[in-house]
Amino acid sequence: MRLSRYFLPLLRDDPKEAEIASHRLMLRAGMIRQSSAGIYSWLPLGFKVLSKIEQIVHEEQDRAGALELLMPTIQPAEIWKESGRYEVYGKEMLRIADRHEREMLYGPTNEELITAIFRDAVKSYKDLPRILYHIQWKFRDEIRPRFGVMRGREFLMKDSYSFDLTVEDARKSYNKMFVAYLRTFARMGLKSVPMVAETGPIGGNLSHEFIILAETGESEVYCHRDLIELDPPGADIDYASDLSPIVDAFTGKYAATSEKHDAVRFDREVPAPDRLTARGIEVGHIFFFGTKYSESMGCKVQGPGGELVTVQMGSYGVGVSRLVGAIIEASHDEAGIIWPKSVAPFDVALINVKVGDSGTDRACEDIFAKLQAAGLSVLYDDRDDRAGAKFAAMDLIGLPWQIIVGPKSIAAGEVELKERATGARHSLTFESALNRLVTAASEP
Ligand SMILES: Nc1ncnc2c1ncn2[C@@H]1O[C@H](COP(=O)(O)OP(=O)(O)O)[C@@H](O)[C@H]1O
Ligand SMILES: [Mg+2]
Repeated sequence: MRLSRYFLPLLRDDPKEAEIASHRLMLRAGMIRQSSAGIYSWLPLGFKVLSKIEQIVHEEQDRAGALELLMPTIQPAEIWKESGRYEVYGKEMLRIADRHEREMLYGPTNEELITAIFRDAVKSYKDLPRILYHIQWKFRDEIRPRFGVMRGREFLMKDSYSFDLTVEDARKSYNKMFVAYLRTFARMGLKSVPMVAETGPIGGNLSHEFIILAETGESEVYCHRDLIELDPPGADIDYASDLSPIVDAFTGKYAATSEKHDAVRFDREVPAPDRLTARGIEVGHIFFFGTKYSESMGCKVQGPGGELVTVQMGSYGVGVSRLVGAIIEASHDEAGIIWPKSVAPFDVALINVKVGDSGTDRACEDIFAKLQAAGLSVLYDDRDDRAGAKFAAMDLIGLPWQIIVGPKSIAAGEVELKERATGARHSLTFESALNRLVTAASEP
């Protein structure tokens, strides 16, 4: 992509409404624009990152055996009346009347709708277990939308729903999602810690929040330090195998959000030097709630003995749009964003420091073509601007690598390669630079 033809409205100054780094940087880097409180448009650069995050979520859901579908954003009020949540949900629910005065709502979550779909389609235990998921916009009329996409009113969520015959089977589905979440967040360069959590309006009694430690996080969290060091399972994980040893390793030590925190237990179970009290960002939340919806909505299947069995359910959310902010909170510096390569909007920035100089222009065109031919995605700054401004812009948008080309480097037969994360710069031939980039791209 040539920057001269891209849509990247950068802001020079810090927007005054932004209280935290990710919000400030997303606005400055031209990723999002607010359209009304807690509601955002995703501009091309931001949308690229959002899509990459979505893709990782898809891949890990698929690997775990979850099946993708797509439910609508607008739901009928009736199903929420069936479950009893229509009244309970309160002002967070955006209620709408259509032209026939039928009560509708913009979905804040989908337990009711998926239960209705499953109930009408599945009649036999032979069709269990199943995990269904979608990635869809949600609306919750939060009292205090803030921190940009971190606490929006409209936000993108991945929500999965599991259906099982027995509590024991449901636990297996829960464990699958638990493991899938560890992998999902790790692939985005994040260290997530599963913590015992409150179930809130979803209901049930088994629940974990997946928390990223960050000073600007909204939740106060308490855990054993060892949990931060645990490595997530690899891509070869067999989801048909018994996953409980992995889940046990991640839940064997104290970890709780403030709502579930027990100071006495924390002091008793965790030696003082291992106690970690920190702030965190909730990026995922999983729930087992048994028959809470299947009972009230009559979601039953015929069991092996012909008897009717009420289905056991769980639900599993990932804050897809929140993750964009969370990743920035975890990875930025004074100069701007530092994208982990798995979610970077482009692999490499190509900076022409002397646009108009025919030798430099020619060299850049050649490099641009070769980088793309090697399978790398490139943002080529071909605008006629000061070198300093170009460097600042590329540091701000945080692509993992920069290749800097000017008359001097060309005369020496070299380019300058800069790694955004470390700031390390090396002068080397373009061939060696390309080699480094291709090698880096192939590493996990
Ligand atoms: N207002 C919001 N803005 C952005 N992401 C949100 C918002 N509310 C929830 N999420 C994301 O969706 C995931 C699932 O939501 P859930 O646990 O049902 O909501 P909550 O924790 O707000 O009650 C959360 O872990 C979080 O990552
Ligand atoms: Mg939650």
